[in-house]
Amino acid sequence: MIIAIDGPTAAGKGTLARSLADHFGFAYLDTGSIYRALASLVRESGLDPENQEEVTGLALKLSATDLQRNDLREEEVGQLASKIAVYPRVRQALLDFQRNFAETPPGEAKGAVLDGRDIGTVICPNADLKLYITASDDVRASRRHKELIDKGVAAIYAEILADLKARDQRDQSRSAAPSKPADDAIVLDTSGITAEAVLEKALGLVADLRC
Ligand code: CDP
Repeated sequence: MIIAIDGPTAAGKGTLARSLADHFGFAYLDTGSIYRALASLVRESGLDPENQEEVTGLALKLSATDLQRNDLREEEVGQLASKIAVYPRVRQALLDFQRNFAETPPGEAKGAVLDGRDIGTVICPNADLKLYITASDDVRASRRHKELIDKGVAAIYAEILADLKARDQRDQSRSAAPSKPADDAIVLDTSGITAEAVLEKALGLVADLRC
């Protein structure tokens, strides 16, 4: 079984994806960490992020250990990730790894949960269940702000909100794999709903598939 979870930043995709994977013993892939790992490498190497050719070259050399880099959750890395994610050749270079993960999950897991922006539309158009998780700008900015403060990172709410809107705008308006719900995705708005309630709802949708 393949479960595709897409949606804008800080909507709760990762929390839901991880819980579903744990519940069913499925493999989980946070595809955003791939773009973040690439952004982190671009930053470290001093490469020009505007040079699609060079960024694509780096994408082709990306390895699984790069997904463990410890700066991946930085806001600057997230912004840079969304800038290099607009390049069609970069996306193409990262496509096979994501598709193989979904179709042949590691550890002989019986299914995979992938979260990102284009899982239901491009990576796994035949996924068994497609969810598009969203929430209001204010709720998402508050969640991201709290996440950073809890980690001891200084963060200003107004800046987080502005960054989040800029990233959404870039992700939704790019021509290659724009962030949007697949035609057959179920949209869940998580504003004012607990993570547990969202999980319950998703488990119900999986149960419906099995009937
Ligand atoms: O955690 P958050 O939702 O803030 O972002 P992320 O999922 O880690 O993704 C970081 C950036 O990578 C996004 O803003 C997208 O530009 C890009 N991305 C993408 O283009 N396609 C994906 N499947 C996943 C992420």
